[in-house]
Amino acid sequence: MDEREEDTMKTFPNGFLWGASTAPHQTEGNNVNSDFWANEGRSPGMEFSGDATDSYHRYREDMQLLADAGLNSYRFGIEWARIEPRPGMISRAELAHYRRMIDTALEFGLTPVVTLHHFTNPKWFADEGGWLGAGAVDRFRSYVSAATDILEGVPWVCTINEPNMFAMMTGMARLLSDPEARKKWTSPTVEGERRQLPAPDPEIGRILIDAHHAVRDIVRENTGAKVGWTVANRAFEVRPGAEEKAAELSYVWEDLYLEAARGDDFVGVQSYSAQWVNTDGIEPYPPHPDNTLVGTAYRPDALGIATRHAWEVTGGVPILVTENGIATGDDTRRIAYTDAALRALADAMNQGIDVRGYLHWSLLDNFEWGHWEPTFGLIAVDRETFERTPKPSLSWLGEVARRNGLE
Ligand code: FCB
Repeated sequence: MDEREEDTMKTFPNGFLWGASTAPHQTEGNNVNSDFWANEGRSPGMEFSGDATDSYHRYREDMQLLADAGLNSYRFGIEWARIEPRPGMISRAELAHYRRMIDTALEFGLTPVVTLHHFTNPKWFADEGGWLGAGAVDRFRSYVSAATDILEGVPWVCTINEPNMFAMMTGMARLLSDPEARKKWTSPTVEGERRQLPAPDPEIGRILIDAHHAVRDIVRENTGAKVGWTVANRAFEVRPGAEEKAAELSYVWEDLYLEAARGDDFVGVQSYSAQWVNTDGIEPYPPHPDNTLVGTAYRPDALGIATRHAWEVTGGVPILVTENGIATGDDTRRIAYTDAALRALADAMNQGIDVRGYLHWSLLDNFEWGHWEPTFGLIAVDRETFERTPKPSLSWLGEVARRNGLE
């Protein structure tokens, strides 16, 4: 490589993780013991997950496609509702299933990043009062103790995915028991022009923080993994005069959860778009032809804002980008978005921020929490035959991974 070439290339550190992420409920199919499954179809316009992408059976093919493209890491989750289908009854067969997934990732040279909780709970846990019930943290602790039996060789464990969005969802789930209020339910990630999401309740957030800290210790005692949680970063931008409002919103939406990550081994940054705050609050995304299929603004630079913010609020906890991506039907837009997001990430890293990897959301087009239309995948999936069709963005990202840098 001559010098000029080197100048134009943004190189990432050795050992940088390059991969993609999924979640069990969105991809496995037939997650019948979960609360989310039980609630599907209960509010207008809410679709069913059904077989999802049948990744419960096809995970090997998914991982092979990822590895063959040149990527070296895969983030996936294990499903509490399968592992503990009744309170206290641990399914050895399901633990063995997830162990096979971990072994398959290792076989393909993919560093597994395992999520313990990604939005879904066992139905029985929800019936007991869920995260607002008296024994919630103990229940979660005992599930995680059982799960750590299969985590040997997993270097990265995420306890709770997006506790901030999940606190909001837990608040919204209350609505589902009321037929009138049910009409207001919406997917946690579909917002934009259609609606503004209600703010997460910090009281619920504090329960999740207790749960996170409780299981962080268990994971540390029982495994050699680095442990952290993954926060939905809002990437707020502040209008002149709105500094106080922004600080207030930032605390409720994300800083509470980022502060709780101090003392973790890493923090997962999850970034999709950026949003303005004025003295009245968060500004809805203005209508624009570039807006994504979930109604958010096209803002690949959000990843840089999010990374800096997480670094600052956690006081320098190492970062793993555990989700970043775009809901679009146009794969050239996905490539352009990801390229720009990675440039913003590289700029933040050049300022000294310690980022260990980049995991794209998502490996597959999947069930977007009540909706099938928003497609985030590097791979398309036929919903009847389950045939996987890699998109150009998969090989593009694989090339970035192979050269460990951008051109
Ligand atoms: C995040 C979720 C993930 C997916 C993406 C689009 O909030 O963690 O499951 O829905 O958004």
